[in-house]
Amino acid sequence: MSVHSLFGSSLRLPIIAAPMFLVSNLELVQACCHAGIVGSFPAANARTLEDLREWLTQMQAFQKTHPNAAPYAVNIILLDKMNDRKEEELALAEEFKVPVLITSVGDPTEAVQRAHAWGGKVIHDVVSIRHAQKAAAAKVDGLILVTGGAGGHTGALNPFAFVSQIREFWDGLLIVGGSISNGQTVRALEVLGADMAYIGTRFIATTESMASEDYKTILIDSAAADVVLSPIFSGVPANYLKASIVRAGLDPNHYTAEDVKIKNIKAWKDVWSAGHGVGSIHDIVPTAELVDRIEQEYRQAVAKAPFFDA
Ligand SMILES: Cc1cc2nc3c(=O)[nH]c(=O)nc-3n(C[C@H](O)[C@H](O)[C@H](O)COP(=O)(O)O)c2cc1C
Repeated sequence: MSVHSLFGSSLRLPIIAAPMFLVSNLELVQACCHAGIVGSFPAANARTLEDLREWLTQMQAFQKTHPNAAPYAVNIILLDKMNDRKEEELALAEEFKVPVLITSVGDPTEAVQRAHAWGGKVIHDVVSIRHAQKAAAAKVDGLILVTGGAGGHTGALNPFAFVSQIREFWDGLLIVGGSISNGQTVRALEVLGADMAYIGTRFIATTESMASEDYKTILIDSAAADVVLSPIFSGVPANYLKASIVRAGLDPNHYTAEDVKIKNIKAWKDVWSAGHGVGSIHDIVPTAELVDRIEQEYRQAVAKAPFFDA
């Protein structure tokens, strides 16, 4: 399935602004859709189901008043033990006919059947070949490969290896996330054989995101070497900004799960996540300006069409 057949002609660039817990708010999602890229939020960012209904009501109204905007996506965690309101979230997505579901962790079969019945699409994020094969068997509309160096719960695979191996059995829509911060890397993914970029961290440093000013400042002051991988805060390996670990009162080189428990430090809220792409993020900008900039970089990269001895 091509990018346009899935997301429509309103898409200006092959980019999804990835869902981020405690970061993606409606302001950011709408700014992305308005700028011509897919905006998304985790259903969990709406703290109650009533809040989620309100967010979806607002997105529906936004779509009506902005018929040329790109579609939006809602991220739902499918594993029951990680999301005790999965059923209710899916029911609300169904009621509001959410155009795109981004499903994570768990079997997407039921979500695919239900979304297809209301005309929605399902793209599923994976960190391994085995999970990609399972998602392909569930007939998802697209696979999102979360590669090594990504913000949030990162994958470990190198993007060259991951994309090449997936392309041996999957000729459908392929979306790749992990450290993508500019138009050159979006273009690089296409050359590699992917269709779209999945960008999280770069959108934290926008005026619209609901990350705190301290978070945004630490992010733009950090480079790749200031990002540390740890399973301790959330139970699963995730990338964090070292300075946020210090800010939370820990020695970033020596801390244990016990220290984290005693100090009651919460992942995402007290220690902040970012991918290796932070090194090339130097400013906090409005989303519209950021998307303009990425488009310019992308077009320049496309125009270069390099040949090694040209
Ligand atoms: C602060 C933060 C929160 C995130 N929260 C979620 C989430 O709730 N659900 C999800 O599927 N992915 C989440 N992610 C992962 C992103 O959706 C995406 O895979 C990742 O940001 C891509 O890599 P990049 O940050 O290097 O661009 C989060 C990432 C970050 C940085």
